[in-house]
Amino acid sequence: MMTGAEAVALASRLAREAGAIQRERYSTVLEIRTKGTSIDLVTEVDLACEALIIAGLRETRPHDSILAEEGGGGEQEGAELRWVIDPLDGTTNYAHAYPRFCVSIGVERSGEPLAGVVYDPLLDELFTAVRGEGARLNGAPIHVSAEPKLERALLCTGFAYDVQRSRDDNVAEFAAFLKAAQAIRRDGSAALDLCYVAAGRFDAFWEFKLKPWDVAAGCLIVEEAGGRTSDAQGGASHWGGRSVVASNAVLHPAMLDILGHTP
Ligand code: IPD
Ligand code: CA
Ligand code: CA
Repeated sequence: MMTGAEAVALASRLAREAGAIQRERYSTVLEIRTKGTSIDLVTEVDLACEALIIAGLRETRPHDSILAEEGGGGEQEGAELRWVIDPLDGTTNYAHAYPRFCVSIGVERSGEPLAGVVYDPLLDELFTAVRGEGARLNGAPIHVSAEPKLERALLCTGFAYDVQRSRDDNVAEFAAFLKAAQAIRRDGSAALDLCYVAAGRFDAFWEFKLKPWDVAAGCLIVEEAGGRTSDAQGGASHWGGRSVVASNAVLHPAMLDILGHTP
């Protein structure tokens, strides 16, 4: 059986290799297409990174299942592990050469998170976690902030790609938190946003309609850094995606309270 530490080692190697492609192609002319909506982009770098990671996994873990954003994975019957991959989280940023994007790889066993790796290739920051063994940044333990007051908290959020036509657009919630917190950022990479909560850079994060590959690694990293993750109602559906609230744990009731009172 593969240990969490072995899963982190393999995911870290593949994340660094994919990150090297992102670094090389950063700020160059890219082939860019749209997906489900006119603002949902995919570049040739997303596809190249996914192909690299999947080829690396197939070599060493041919019997595992893979869920990957651009569709290159597949389920395997009787698989020991499932690898949940966002080959480039922050594609809009990447397409504009805004320097905030990453590779995210979560690993689950029997539907439960086992390990998570998020790599920011420009800052060379590797966030990792093994279930029950804490979270790390470039090998050093990290911890969420201790901020107990929402009015002193730096929050982060994001908006789904259907924001232009959906009524469920996070605008009312954004307005409510804007009035309640010290400040809010919309940084464009949910996986990195979660890691920044884990590292105490943000005090809390929320977003709706996220996908498993956005949060698989980041939610485990937050929890292992002493934080709390849930859906917007306080339930534990984060691993499957949907709404996600991640905080330093102390602020979680205040976050859920505002989300519960926003129409
Ligand atoms: C997106 C980013 C963004 C979030 C979107 C995600 P992508 O992922 O994480 O921050 O607001 O909801 O879909 O498309 O760049 O991999
Ligand atoms: Ca993503
Ligand atoms: Ca992506």
